[in-house]
Amino acid sequence: MAVKFERRGTTGFVTLANPPVNAMGLAVRQGLDAAVTWAEAEPGLTRVIVSGGERVFAAGGDAREFDAPPVAPHLPDVLSRIETSTVPWIAAIRGVALGGGCELALACRYRIAHPDAQLGLPEVTLGVIPGAGGTQRLPRLVGYGAALDMIATGRSVTAPQAKAMGLIDLVSDTPDIEAEMVVPELLDQIVPLWERPVDGYDPGLTTAALQSASQKSKSQLAPQEAVRMVEMAALTEFDQAMLAERETFIRLRNGDQARALRHIFFAERAAKAPDWLTAAPLDVRMAAVVGGGTMGAGIAYALLSVGLSVCVLETDPDGVARAQVNVDKLISQSLSRGFLTDQKAEDIRRRLTVSDDYSVAADAELAIEAAFESLEVKQMVFGRLEAVMRPDTVLASNTSYLDLDQIANCLSDPGRLVGLHFFAPAHVMKLLEIVRGAATNDLALATGYALAKRLRKIPVLSGVCDGFIGNRILQRYREAADTVFMDGSTPWEVDEAMVDFGYAMGPYEAQDLSGLDIAHANRRRQDATRDPNRRYIPIADRMVELGKLGRKTGAGWYRYPGGGPKVDDPIVADLALEECHFEGRTRTDYNAEEIRRRLLLAMINEAAEILNEGIAQNARDIDLVTVFGYGFPRWRGGLMHYADTLGAEAILAQLKELSGEDALVWRPSPVIEDCAARGIRFADWSR
Ligand code: COA
Repeated sequence: MAVKFERRGTTGFVTLANPPVNAMGLAVRQGLDAAVTWAEAEPGLTRVIVSGGERVFAAGGDAREFDAPPVAPHLPDVLSRIETSTVPWIAAIRGVALGGGCELALACRYRIAHPDAQLGLPEVTLGVIPGAGGTQRLPRLVGYGAALDMIATGRSVTAPQAKAMGLIDLVSDTPDIEAEMVVPELLDQIVPLWERPVDGYDPGLTTAALQSASQKSKSQLAPQEAVRMVEMAALTEFDQAMLAERETFIRLRNGDQARALRHIFFAERAAKAPDWLTAAPLDVRMAAVVGGGTMGAGIAYALLSVGLSVCVLETDPDGVARAQVNVDKLISQSLSRGFLTDQKAEDIRRRLTVSDDYSVAADAELAIEAAFESLEVKQMVFGRLEAVMRPDTVLASNTSYLDLDQIANCLSDPGRLVGLHFFAPAHVMKLLEIVRGAATNDLALATGYALAKRLRKIPVLSGVCDGFIGNRILQRYREAADTVFMDGSTPWEVDEAMVDFGYAMGPYEAQDLSGLDIAHANRRRQDATRDPNRRYIPIADRMVELGKLGRKTGAGWYRYPGGGPKVDDPIVADLALEECHFEGRTRTDYNAEEIRRRLLLAMINEAAEILNEGIAQNARDIDLVTVFGYGFPRWRGGLMHYADTLGAEAILAQLKELSGEDALVWRPSPVIEDCAARGIRFADWSR
């Protein structure tokens, strides 16, 4: 039974019982509908108290049902019955009341929540709007501005905030007991929300909300529609606006953006240790981090924030001082942004040691190496760690490109080594690539997964190859960008095309931020193994020769006069003209559509090859990597989900067309050919 109800005295008790999160699927809607009918038929019943679980009141509509046509009874109808029932309902909320859960509370006559409860309408984050009266009832309860803010951004509020804004009537440690104190006479005096006006309507607020939505969620439909619906609450009669809300909800729900956002929502939750990994992880209490640069300090801070003791190891006293400053900076930043209390900061400092003496790592269960990207340096580091740490502990490398198996060769037990590839800033970015080397043992892997969970990061398993999943795709993206640039465009045209696609910034601006020297070092490393028949684009090398390394040198692909915003640089544009001339090529004026096509196809083809080689386990993992590590627009569902919207057959045809220009670069991956031949999606591909 997804909804239980019983009578005690003159009160009806309705409990949602649909684990794990009381999603309001068909069974819950039927149960609530039946509860209304039951309560109205019970003689002498004066109120109904509805509650959920300890952690979750209700998480809203069951998003797993959203791919199929809606089935009656529909939530807006059930909630309308609750709102207009002859027996008034009271919501007693513990845990989260989100989406339909919050809408259920809004349909009740009175709302009481535990101090730790959270209420919100996060539908826009799933590409839809509240579809069961949320856009119409919330503004009638909390006023126009506050409702606009919550619904258009999807932000939730705590119970005390909800009380302050009038969203709930009472905060109580025992909401269910408190609900029994609410006398029927009080409930009778309360005007149901649908009969109330919207306070504080101001068209200026609508304009501001639309502007903010188009800035923060450019190209996304749901936030704009959410604003439009809240405005309807102020300007249109309730029943008519409810119909419009429902129509908009269904339209968005069936659209590509909502489908993509649902895909990412569920992919994020499916990212966990594979079933075959049954080894128990090490109980890590203390971790060593080797290297206190930006990456090492970020990793150290992330570990400290979840309660671990951390020793940061450096090579000499200068390094120790620098590392200390780097971690301190992160602590101060969090303090000033209100993420940390003074007491928590003090506690973090107490658990941090920075030293150039490796013996302080003797008690650590895990060491994460974030040293300079050189095989020799890394092997030296692991040799020193091996000498001081117990043999049953786990060693991890944060290498971005190097061969994990070669690094492991220096260890007497190479099975101890796992790759843990963090993304900068490591305490913020949610992705963690867990790299499994040829020898990596299950204990090391399981410990990596357990750490990801503790850090609330999204783990994605990768095999060993140059750049693993993410950086390997990134290299192809950059190569395609440089080719388009050299053969006809400018960096700013390329960037603009990709920003229009949905990236927060294009590949050139992004590289200016991270620095051109890292990719340059990689190209030199790859010189020995690069296929001599593959076209090599020399532009990025010319940039490094000119000392244009990005923002840190004041100029890269763009100029940054006075350290300010980027400015197009005609000298950079001329480099492409020169190089093209040297190679005797005729330049082509690519439009934005063509630029996007080439960059995206290059990435999709590489990603398919990554699947083909078994480096990624499935297409969904590539989606997670591209969205959470590389800024691929979430509302497009990740690279392979996007590829599936194009279809393998169409992709294959385009690659074949481009292979006329360069047969090596555009050679279609066998996985694309296979998906096209079998008529299947990348999401469903397996060997
Ligand atoms: N519909 C269907 N399934 C849902 C769901 C929803 N609205 N919300 C959560 N689930 C599922 C998850 O997929 C997961 O399933 P799994 O165990 O098979 O992987 C399970 O419930 C637990 O969710 P999870 O997010 O891992 O648990 P949590 O305790 O970390 O967080 C919530 C709980 C409710 C805060 C979080 O799940 C959430 O924010 N849900 C979405 C709320 C929302 O956007 N509602 C509006 C829907 S239109």
